[in-house]
Amino acid sequence: MKPRTHMCGQLRATDIGRSVHVMGWVQRRRDHGGLVFVDLRDRTGLVQIVFNPTVNAPAHEQAQQLRQEFVIAVTGTVSARPAGMRNPNLATGEVEVMVHQLEILNEAKTPPFLIEDEVDVTEAIRMKHRYLDLRRPQMQQLLRLRHEVAQQVRMFLNTRGFLEIETPMLTKSTPEGARDYLVPSRINPGNFYALPQSPQLFKQILMVAGADRYYQIARCFRDEDLRNDRQPEFTQIDLEMSFADREQVMALAEEMLIRVFKTAAGIDLPTPFPRLSYAEAIGRYGSDKPDLRFEMPLYDVSDFAAQSEFKVFKDAVVKGGIVKALIVKGGASIPRSRIDALGETAKSFGAKGLAWVKITGEGQLESVIAKFLIPARLLGALPGAAAGDLLLFGADKPAIVHDVLGRLRLLLGEELHLIDKAAWRPLWVTDFPLLEHDEAEKRYVALHHPFTAPLDEDVARLETEPLKARAKAYDLVLNGTEIGGGSIRNHRREIQSKLFDLLGIGKDEAQAKFGFLLDALEYGAPPHGGIAFGLDRLIMLLGGADSIRDVIAFPKTQKAQCLMTDAPSPVDPEQLKELRIKFDKIE
Ligand code: AMO
Ligand code: AMP
Repeated sequence: MKPRTHMCGQLRATDIGRSVHVMGWVQRRRDHGGLVFVDLRDRTGLVQIVFNPTVNAPAHEQAQQLRQEFVIAVTGTVSARPAGMRNPNLATGEVEVMVHQLEILNEAKTPPFLIEDEVDVTEAIRMKHRYLDLRRPQMQQLLRLRHEVAQQVRMFLNTRGFLEIETPMLTKSTPEGARDYLVPSRINPGNFYALPQSPQLFKQILMVAGADRYYQIARCFRDEDLRNDRQPEFTQIDLEMSFADREQVMALAEEMLIRVFKTAAGIDLPTPFPRLSYAEAIGRYGSDKPDLRFEMPLYDVSDFAAQSEFKVFKDAVVKGGIVKALIVKGGASIPRSRIDALGETAKSFGAKGLAWVKITGEGQLESVIAKFLIPARLLGALPGAAAGDLLLFGADKPAIVHDVLGRLRLLLGEELHLIDKAAWRPLWVTDFPLLEHDEAEKRYVALHHPFTAPLDEDVARLETEPLKARAKAYDLVLNGTEIGGGSIRNHRREIQSKLFDLLGIGKDEAQAKFGFLLDALEYGAPPHGGIAFGLDRLIMLLGGADSIRDVIAFPKTQKAQCLMTDAPSPVDPEQLKELRIKFDKIE
């Protein structure tokens, strides 16, 4: 095949007069007074090509056959478009290609939707015909952005002494908190591999193995309930460093992110990234991944509440709970019906109610609970509040108050247009609790994962008050999304064993599940730690995509299906027999 001289989207006024050979897909064909115009598309964009019967009659005749998405090759001359016909919205808008020769390389059925950005089509149809969906310029841009980010990450880490090392896909399960995807072993009937939830244990073993600095753009598999920013199969920028403490890992990760945002997307992230402890983030924003693009913090009014006459407030504090408030600036004009609806939303988030107060004037309150409140005391407890504002209150256990008000904060930030959509607000969240108590299972579980080290000053607490022990863990949050998380690990066997004890993982179970790690820790494991970024989430934010599915070439639906290939699907009974698996439908 005669090679192309140019890509469609490359042609410019400087190419006028040049003879070119271009190929691509027919975006549309228009017949105009003897001339046939075709917009030809490839990955780089569109160029207009023109068939003129006086230039080449047979080619013009042949052009009548062209339909949407036909694949063609044309030879022609780049010419200036006549004045008035230029298209300033198109990179190639000053030129067109006068065709001398046309070759139809392939025909195409009429596609089920137009190959355009603002196409009105269900996601299911896009997924089924993903090859057509991916032809859309926006999707091509996201593919390119993802490529660019991956390359920049590699370049940065390569210059910092990191080795790119692959870890197995068929492995033993790593407990990251989700369910495993299992793969049966034909050669070892009754035994299963697990697809990795992350390369966590292998990267730690690589540190014991002396690799010193590892990275991998790693595929991870988690069988969990899917959301807009979760896929069952996703990609991490995963790294681990030996002889490094928290500060060193965080500094490197921060530098990498700044570099990648700049080089791949031209974005300057504000530096240094601010830091909040977990307790501060939850206390102030009701979330461990606060969106800092707007302020609207939660105020603790528990002292005021304890002294008030309002029973709900008083009781909450007496029972060991808290009362917190959101100040909605100018919110006194929000109609009662909307406030009641917010109350219902709060209930759906787990609150018992949502008390509200409008400050209608100097020291004047409007509320069904106004009779229980002394205005001067309330306003004294909320110095930021002023006439015209709306106050919303949560009174309950701290976890419920924080969660409910944190979610209302986000909802109101969106609804009242308080979020600066052009801003980039990264932050580190640190000092997470090492453990939390699983009420349902009545046992401790690791908040990050069981290999995370406690803060040195909190090691003693593991014996006395384990829930108060903080972890050497850190999350990177960007605009309210957790894009990365990591920690310093337990490199000494005693502490790792102690943690397994606390987590209720007995000696035998620990040996069976992680014996290889515990063994390795006994052969001179260096201090080490690392972090993993969610590549898909990063691209989603950078590319302004609405869904994580838009930044993955072949994603799964909310029901974890691939509509193009129809996976998952039943398999041949012969295959099951070979695996010695009998399928019993459980209702
Ligand atoms: P963690 O479980 O926090 O840490 O994952 C790291 C980052 O991966 C992204 N992520 C996801 N993205 C899309 N779909 C999912 N289902 C999904 N789950 C997680 C998030 C998250 O911040 N081994 C540790 C890292 C370490 O300690 O070094 C780990 O996997 O952006
Ligand atoms: P009640 O005394 O139940 O009529 O409630 C009076 C107001 O307090 C209503 O606006 C309720 O939504 C609100 N409320 C009730 N329980 C709570 C709570 N736990 N936290 C915040 N507001 C509440």
